[in-house]
Amino acid sequence: MPSALFTLAKPILHSMDPETAHGMTLKALQAGLVPCCTVPNDERLQTTLWNRTFPNPVGLAAGFDKNADVVEPMLKIGFGFVEAGTVTPRPQDGNPRPRVFRDPANDAVINRMGFPNKGADNFRHNIERFLEKKDRARGVLGINIGMNKGVEDPAKDYCDLVQMLGQYADYLTVNISSPNTPGLRNLQSRENLVPLLTRILEQRAKSCASNMPPLLVKLAPDLTEEQLQDIAASLIEVRIDGVILGNTTLDRPEYLSAGMRQQAGGLSGKPLTQKSTQIIRTFYSMTHGALPIIGVGGISNADDAYAKIRAGASLVQLYTALVFQGPALVSDILNGLLVQLEKDGFNHISQAIGKSA
Ligand SMILES: Cc1cc2nc3c(=O)[nH]c(=O)nc-3n(C[C@H](O)[C@H](O)[C@H](O)COP(=O)(O)O)c2cc1C
Repeated sequence: MPSALFTLAKPILHSMDPETAHGMTLKALQAGLVPCCTVPNDERLQTTLWNRTFPNPVGLAAGFDKNADVVEPMLKIGFGFVEAGTVTPRPQDGNPRPRVFRDPANDAVINRMGFPNKGADNFRHNIERFLEKKDRARGVLGINIGMNKGVEDPAKDYCDLVQMLGQYADYLTVNISSPNTPGLRNLQSRENLVPLLTRILEQRAKSCASNMPPLLVKLAPDLTEEQLQDIAASLIEVRIDGVILGNTTLDRPEYLSAGMRQQAGGLSGKPLTQKSTQIIRTFYSMTHGALPIIGVGGISNADDAYAKIRAGASLVQLYTALVFQGPALVSDILNGLLVQLEKDGFNHISQAIGKSA
């Protein structure tokens, strides 16, 4: 919705259950209530990675658009890329409600959604409709894939999704880091990770020979340095194309209210900012920048986005800050990044990557 409309609507939306408010926001976006914020279209921000051109390096993180309902309006808002999903092969309801909790005092959210989504058939239909549009907005489409709850063979779910959706994606993200699907984060261990990714990569080669999307892995921010080292070695061994660092955290900082601290699920937003920037910095140094990183976690202004880029991220994403600040946030961040570039004497955003790693 337009930014002025967001200012008017925010008190109403934020008086509702977060998921109901989110549903209304999606409906408004689908109905064409899309902001007309002026977004800088500046070559200094245009980023080419994996042979894809991102109009700017700021993307919408997974989870906002689980069913690929609003890819077009979110690109119109000014995001350089939209990561739709997490989608699972079969539709599922997710955990019982309520399962999303806002903490406005700390610009934070806790969610334990558990991948509610309408499944891969519906997702494919929506993507096809988006791709058919003649004058569609510029930008890159990422597809974030996950397994259904309780499956015996997670790799089969991921492979089925690569087969069904891989051809439509500018990049694919293997989500193995949401804390709300039992067993999912165990896929990050070396003995699980290498066989899983090997099967997915084989499936990609089979299903997407003519348009091979880069394959990324989304990791948790709660990994120890030792775990991260192991994972980095595995990812390089199997030749993964990039990583997303990271998902929500299981941390519960003391300054959160008692009510928030006791909620199960993943914490996102401001309390995650420093932690995710640090893990990006560690991963970048460990790998000497060999694997491109999408940095995500608690970005709520241009300084946060720039810090992640300087720590080693080639691109960044956000979700939670959008809930609190509305769509004008995107142009604010892009304009702020241009100011930062000028301050540092860079003439392109890529020059800042890893400068403070
Ligand atoms: C309500 C909610 C739902 C989310 N759902 C997903 C999801 O389905 N898949 C995923 O990979 N990440 C999901 N995330 C995590 C975000 O993509 C992101 O990694 C995390 O929230 C940190 O970024 P932020 O602090 O900018 O929100 C979700 C986050 C929130 C707040």
